[in-house]
Amino acid sequence: MALEIVNPTKTLAWGKLTAHFEEVKQTSMKEMFAIDKERVEKFHIKWQDFVIDYSKNKITEETIKLLLELANEVGLDKAIKDYFSGENINQTENRAVLHTALRSNESDVVKFEGKNIIPEIFEVKKKIEKFTNEIIDGGRKGYTSKVFTDVVNIGIGGSDLGPAMVVEALQYYGNHLNIHFVSNVDGDHVNEVLKKINPETTLFVIVSKTFTTQETLSNAETIKKWFLKSAKQEDITKHFVAVSTNIKNVTQFGIAEENIFPMWDWVGGRFSLWSAVGLSISLAVGFDNFNKLLKGANQMDIHFKETSFDKNIPVVLALLSIWYNNFFGAETEALIPYTQYLQKLAPYLQQGIMESNGKSVGRDGKLVNYQTGTIIWGEPGTNSQHAFFQLIHQGTKLIPTDFIGFKKSLHGDKNHHDKLMSNFFAQTEALLMGKTKEQVKAEFEKAKIIGEKADSLLPFKIFEGDKPTNTLLIEKLTPESLGSLIALYEHKIFVQGIIWNIFSYDQWGVELGKQLANSILEELNTGNLNTHDSSTNFLLRKYIE
Ligand code: F6P
Repeated sequence: MALEIVNPTKTLAWGKLTAHFEEVKQTSMKEMFAIDKERVEKFHIKWQDFVIDYSKNKITEETIKLLLELANEVGLDKAIKDYFSGENINQTENRAVLHTALRSNESDVVKFEGKNIIPEIFEVKKKIEKFTNEIIDGGRKGYTSKVFTDVVNIGIGGSDLGPAMVVEALQYYGNHLNIHFVSNVDGDHVNEVLKKINPETTLFVIVSKTFTTQETLSNAETIKKWFLKSAKQEDITKHFVAVSTNIKNVTQFGIAEENIFPMWDWVGGRFSLWSAVGLSISLAVGFDNFNKLLKGANQMDIHFKETSFDKNIPVVLALLSIWYNNFFGAETEALIPYTQYLQKLAPYLQQGIMESNGKSVGRDGKLVNYQTGTIIWGEPGTNSQHAFFQLIHQGTKLIPTDFIGFKKSLHGDKNHHDKLMSNFFAQTEALLMGKTKEQVKAEFEKAKIIGEKADSLLPFKIFEGDKPTNTLLIEKLTPESLGSLIALYEHKIFVQGIIWNIFSYDQWGVELGKQLANSILEELNTGNLNTHDSSTNFLLRKYIE
């Protein structure tokens, strides 16, 4: 069944929110905290080993009530059921969106076109497990009978970002295998990786759902040629495996059928790390940890499916984001993990969030008359504090920010961790409270800065505060908690897409550039330049001269 078509701005709740916004924008969060000493009690969610404090937002109980009304009016409840039950909610590609099935339990039943898909998912999981164990234990060896020491994941977009982010994030749980990622069609990328590896001890995992992606196929061909300088054609079987839905193209590339890990059309690229696309994750941290990652995601799926919207983490975070995007006019959101392990979380979510919700045509096929997808960006704290935090604190833009921190560090260095987390707490407090004129003056007095110097410096030292943040405080970075965290943001994307009345699971916007690149490549090869706009003509001539 098709998703409902509801223009959110035509709902009753939207009208009420518009009026309510005029009231709320007059009150600072500082005042809200002063009026209501119990504020945090009202605006936090505790779930498993996650605490989500969203009290430092420009909201009242009325705001949440109205946002929840909006969720109900657009039919979110039914949409969630359609999402999990394999309806073709990716209508423009005529596909279901079932990445959640990949992390289901073996006893669950998830039907796609009337057939339970759990058995085939578990068949592939068993294949991943067996293969992972053979590589890690050294049972499966390279063409000169040496054990594998390196793995190269060749893929791009969803076939790279998810595995690369998780492998980086879970490196603490890693083993002896060095995992490399080649994604860019830039030949310097692949050549830098080739410098570091030995063909005798390297396994190549080609990941491409379609097996037609220019970048991935070019890199795979380059690597194959490099490999064949020292190995023979028949050695490819030992060193190359693929993850794809396109069995024909993979076999044509020279990979044996038993070395193909299948995936399915109902898994979108940017949500595919839970499938065999995550093979490099399994190799990096072992199958048990890969499975724990899936279990953590499954726990979040259950929370999202079964919890009332007012206590539902993805729903609440999605609604808050809509509040800022559509009423305050905030264009971007920052995501600041206070752990170096999550340095690739923002780039990973950039694909998830912006490829999904960067749409301007509604589900009715008409241009929307309101804002949709937010721009997402971020870097780990404390590094980001020394880079772009100035703008968040004192710039002219409103940037709602998620702070993600962990109660425990992995290596257990309490001295470092307390310093890190003091910064984590201090930043959200500073963003909320700012620094008043009176506080600055008191500081000046203490530091004996007086007279004209004090007067002229004063405006620059004032922090307005009133900058919204969500705090996600999690017990520890484990495969489970990471799985839950990723799934949380996946569901936030879904909720926002439903409310904005767009299709979140296609990505037609990336096609035009690909098509043009192919025709320009042909022009570069033949030297027959077509007529383009004057700028492109000029640049192409400069490139070939
Ligand atoms: O960027 C467009 C895109 O289609 C992504 O959605 C996808 O993750 C990526 O290209 C790679 O596609 P494939 O896995 O088919 O090579």
